[in-house]
Amino acid sequence: MRKLTVIPGDGIGPEITAQMLRVLKAVSAPFDYEEHPAGLIALETVGELLPESTLRSINQTGLAIKGPTTTPVSGGHRSLNVTLRQKFDLYANVRPVRSLPGVECRFGEVDFVIVRENTEDLYMGIERMVDADTAESIKRITRSGSERIARYALDLARRTGRKQVACVHKANIMKMSDGLFLKTAQDVATKYPEIQFRDVIVDNMCMQMVTRPSQFEVVVTQNLYGDILSDLGAGLVGGLGVAPGANIGKDAAVFEAVHGSAPDIAGQNKANPTALIQSAVMLLEHIGEIEKSKAIMTALVSTLADVNARTGDLGGRGTTSSFTDALLQKIKS
Ligand code: NAI
Ligand code: MG
Repeated sequence: MRKLTVIPGDGIGPEITAQMLRVLKAVSAPFDYEEHPAGLIALETVGELLPESTLRSINQTGLAIKGPTTTPVSGGHRSLNVTLRQKFDLYANVRPVRSLPGVECRFGEVDFVIVRENTEDLYMGIERMVDADTAESIKRITRSGSERIARYALDLARRTGRKQVACVHKANIMKMSDGLFLKTAQDVATKYPEIQFRDVIVDNMCMQMVTRPSQFEVVVTQNLYGDILSDLGAGLVGGLGVAPGANIGKDAAVFEAVHGSAPDIAGQNKANPTALIQSAVMLLEHIGEIEKSKAIMTALVSTLADVNARTGDLGGRGTTSSFTDALLQKIKS
């Protein structure tokens, strides 16, 4: 048994986390679950957004699965996710963009992985008011940060038998920061001669993703571009309800869906738990529990094909809990 930190988060987080745990338990996943709060619920109950006990738990287990947490726009607290990613140096944000049979989308088969650098770029929060009418944000890119994310993406391609990596940047305009990122990635790629390495400027990338998404296999990019492109990727394959992710570091890994806390549907048993359940599948793969991960995926694909089972975001008639009931039936049969 391995200890797993479970962070339900807030908004739709607790609802989808409860269903995701039912699924892990149904396949007898080898975990001792340690539940810890974070986000608005933690603020109400413990008086802190990210309690010390939650951080200590991740520190000890090195493995967590997390529901979304709300971050206020403009003022207010910093994003907990950004804090967690920096604290545990979860430098690789891995976000598969894969069409699922049964989930309608505009394109045929789409199957690529976005590898987003997770610790640098404009998300470091280095901002200041120069004067009352002028604000500045600093974009920081380092050679070492660029090197390790490029290596992660190329290793992932090699490990999963993918033949191509596309590096997304805007080095034509940001010649120093994006220039360093691109040059470093190109250097790393020379050590992977069997992988075709190409670069794509981010605005063109948006167009390519919606016109011919099947041309991509692995995409490596910086923090901000990766954040935006992964929601675009989710839109290609059925929406945020089906887009999973993982934040991977040397000593810890935190699995979470791409979507946020969806306050517009929170507490209504409407949210699609698929994205978080797929994040749990990634977690099982990460620890080498391939059989169990496949058992969930097979059942998930066939449940999603059923309009009575799947949730409203996918045009279905199911709820968060009834979808999971149907999924558990399939796992058992
Ligand atoms: P969002 O992803 O929460 O919602 C965008 C739209 O997608 C909404 O219409 C929502 O109802 C829908 N949606 C999202 N997940 C869904 C699901 N599982 N099933 C069905 N529909 C779903 O993005 P938004 O509204 O921009 O952000 C809300 C809050 O979440 C913000 O405070 C934001 O900072 C936070 N956030 C947190 C993240 C995290 O904890 N990892 C990631 C992204 C945003
Ligand atoms: Mg995002």
